Amino acid sequence: ISLKSYNTFGVAVSSSFFAEVFSESYLKDLLLLPIVKEQQLLVLGGGSNLLFTKDFNGLVIKMSIPGITAVVEGNEVLVTAGAGVVWNDFVNYCVGSGFAGVENLSLIPGTVGASPIQNIGAYGVELKDVFYACTAYEITTAEERTFNFEECKFGYRDSVFKNELKGRYIITGVTFKLSTEAQINTKYGAIQTELVNRNITNPTIADISQVVADIRVSKLPDPSTIGNAGSFFKNPVIDRLAFEKVFAKFPDMVHYPAPNDKIKLAAGWLIEQCGFKGKVVGHTGTWKNQALVLVNHGDATGAEVYSFSEEIINTVYIKFGVMLEREVNIL
Ligand code: EPU
Repeated sequence: ISLKSYNTFGVAVSSSFFAEVFSESYLKDLLLLPIVKEQQLLVLGGGSNLLFTKDFNGLVIKMSIPGITAVVEGNEVLVTAGAGVVWNDFVNYCVGSGFAGVENLSLIPGTVGASPIQNIGAYGVELKDVFYACTAYEITTAEERTFNFEECKFGYRDSVFKNELKGRYIITGVTFKLSTEAQINTKYGAIQTELVNRNITNPTIADISQVVADIRVSKLPDPSTIGNAGSFFKNPVIDRLAFEKVFAKFPDMVHYPAPNDKIKLAAGWLIEQCGFKGKVVGHTGTWKNQALVLVNHGDATGAEVYSFSEEIINTVYIKFGVMLEREVNIL
């Protein structure tokens, strides 16, 4: 089956087998089938954080478990969503219901089930700030298990599901701890600027959601018209000593404090300084408004995008001595 419409990069590859899962019981049955046990598996949500460089020789499991339920207790609310719920539909449900906490995460592509894996984050909020628990099935046993906050070991674009437990569990649903009393987060500079521009002094969560959505639309390419997977690289986090050395040479370098006395650099800035912003190379390139995003200008192969990303990594390393790491999963 063609996977072109199942990856937002729009790369034309195929898989040997494909199954779409709408319920936990179906997933359990599927995992116990002898023929499935023989296959290499690839679990897909929105396909918005991966780059296929070749056909997938195995079974693709597309997670489409639906449903959202909410339990309100005082000013706290636990909202549970199926893995297949489109992330932004979930955000819209929360904003529309007056449940605060995810409005800064408006318009992030992908699904609820994928959101904990890389601890999605944007505009001053990360998934871990609102995460309560998730349910998952162990692939080899088809047993259900719940993961609480600590067990997920969240970090910047990171969790246990990308490390120790990589490829071992399939997330079927996520529970979030939200609030019926808005605690607006406007610490991200671009949000503040936009609120001032719009003369909004007392923003609601709906205002924040709208502002974030508008900022994203202005900076990021829409995957339905131009293939991409959001930020292609992570923002590098480096030691203070290494930072001071490179900062002495490049005093304009964009940087932020990170945990454990480290410094986070803006990968988009590093890439732009190397002259890559908006550059078109064959069928691929970087986005004109955000150099951290690689795009498919039509008919790009995964290999072509990958080799362009190699060129970026090498060039940034030669200029700054900083090694970029890919954020997108390469398959
Ligand atoms: N910058 C440049 N040139 C560029 C892009 C950025 O100089 O081409 C500079 C900007 O001037 C700014 C800084 O880099 O000072 C940060 O840029 P921006 O606010 O656009 O955010 P980012 O650090 O590039 C991260 C996330 C995004 C998220 C935004 C907003 C990562 C890898 N990316 O990007 O997440 O939307 O912050 O919070 O952490 C994603 O993960 O797919 C993603 C889009």
